[in-house]
Amino acid sequence: MCGIVGYIGKKPAAPYLLDGLKKLEYRGYDSAGIALLQGQTLIVRKEKGRVEQLEKARSAAGTAGIGHTRWATHGKPSKENAHPHVSGKFALVHNGIIENDYELRARLIKWGETFSSQTDSELIVKLLAREYCGDFLIAVKNVVKQLRGAFALAILCADFPQTIVCVRQGSPLIVGKGKDYLALASDIPAIAGEGVSAFVLKDGEFALLRETDVFFYDAQLRKIEKEQTEYDLQTDSPDLCGFRHFMRKEMQEIPQAVKDSLLQIAQAEQSACLRELLRRTERVQIVGCGTAYHSGLAAKAAIEGLARIPTEVCIASEYRYRNPIINANTLVIAVSQSGETADTLAAAQLAKEHGAYVAAVTNVPYSTLTECADLLLPTRAGREIGVAATKSYNAQLAVLYALALLFAEERQKDVLAQKRALQAMPQMCLSALPVCEEVRGWSSYFLNARSVYFIGRAEDYAAAAEGSLKLKELSYLPGEGYPAGELKHGTLALIDETTPVIAILTRKDLAEKTLNAVHEVFSRGARVFLITAFPEYRNREEVFASVLIPACERYFSPMLSVIPLQALAYYTALARGNDPDKPRNLAKSVTVE
Ligand code: G6P
Repeated sequence: MCGIVGYIGKKPAAPYLLDGLKKLEYRGYDSAGIALLQGQTLIVRKEKGRVEQLEKARSAAGTAGIGHTRWATHGKPSKENAHPHVSGKFALVHNGIIENDYELRARLIKWGETFSSQTDSELIVKLLAREYCGDFLIAVKNVVKQLRGAFALAILCADFPQTIVCVRQGSPLIVGKGKDYLALASDIPAIAGEGVSAFVLKDGEFALLRETDVFFYDAQLRKIEKEQTEYDLQTDSPDLCGFRHFMRKEMQEIPQAVKDSLLQIAQAEQSACLRELLRRTERVQIVGCGTAYHSGLAAKAAIEGLARIPTEVCIASEYRYRNPIINANTLVIAVSQSGETADTLAAAQLAKEHGAYVAAVTNVPYSTLTECADLLLPTRAGREIGVAATKSYNAQLAVLYALALLFAEERQKDVLAQKRALQAMPQMCLSALPVCEEVRGWSSYFLNARSVYFIGRAEDYAAAAEGSLKLKELSYLPGEGYPAGELKHGTLALIDETTPVIAILTRKDLAEKTLNAVHEVFSRGARVFLITAFPEYRNREEVFASVLIPACERYFSPMLSVIPLQALAYYTALARGNDPDKPRNLAKSVTVE
């Protein structure tokens, strides 16, 4: 959450900063701002809302600058709370959260400081102005010592033209070195380019960018050398390719994401590390947040069903406070598209401290999660720009299902049929995509729903949970993904003619039972929308509308049933006038706890 960027070069900084911020908007879009150094004068431009609101600052002069796009934590979205914040000779942008904000702010107020924003970030720049005795780096180091929490900071000082100091503690930060310029950003796509080297800072590290040179330091300000990080140049050129939104485009990319992710894990199969892991794992715990948690729910069924390994799935923010039972034969799989979700990182860290082996399933190989994990099991979804996850969910499932099969083989189970079935999933996903247009018409029945229920059993429940999250994220309609059999224990009281119900039915052996639940909600006046793999259930009187998805191996069905669910969320968001790529109050990378 929040994206920061910086530039020093021969050209004007503003266009670079604005273009970089646009590529970081997935991290937040409540306000945006830039600060430029014109000689020894700091020029600051900020606006509430998206980066496009700042376009008029594009022509501002200055060849060194920093920028910020915000997801509000401390203080509402407003121009006053927008970054950069300025005090004395300093301008600063911050991604993260300062946990001892209250204490530091009180101290500053006691010293006579006044604040013009409600942010925790402003106090950092105030502290800097107070600490400063002529040495830029030392001042930053002394302030950093006083901060608790997560932060990536980029700072300008009017005494040092063509210089930026940045530091990382818990929030991602990358420095880029181009042919005749230097840059920094919260993520590689904002600085990627032909001939640009990227350096990923680790926690506690500082960088001093001056003219065309960059110097790296550890927490004690000892100079260090850093290896450059390989990255995919394509990350630089997101293109809508004729689609109206990235989300819709990214759904079309699901088959490719699944195919590439399966290929990737096939390549890793023989690694000694993975073989050892397969041999010794006795229990699995999957941790993640949001969609990543839901892919864990779906994977649990496959790992337990195919490999008979006890598997727990935990919401990362809960796991960390649970004193989890772990030993050296526990595999903890941390699932995170971004690899930067603070709660997932903390859970992975805790698992490691307890002696677990940690595998990271992430789409970002240079992420903090990769750094922290013992083993990387990459998804290859490609860059996902839509804030709500789509293809990355399917890619996570591909990797987790493949892992389930590897575990099963290691335990001498006959899973040949399932292996073939998994290889066929990219093609199955392709066949499922046309249903997206079929559910488009459904959205008109959801526009003014009081709440929406998604029901299913077993794997279908896992998909229901994800379907409900998508609809909440994008259309802002309340609702729940609920186990179909559990409805009758209280929740049926919430179902009436204002509550559309989506029923998911992909397992023949569960059909009668799920249809019982369908009947119960129908009897209470709910309109039932059915997503099924079986044509024979589509014409039942309880079913108001339905779509048919391909029938596949039971464990893998969420990979297909989620497709109409994603489409429903997308088209309902559009019908309600929301931007599906940038839903309110959401960020793609949640770097605060
Ligand atoms: C945010 C995003 C969700 C995502 C979740 C976990 O809430 O908006 O779409 O599922 O974070 O993100 P991660 O990067 O860890 O998968």
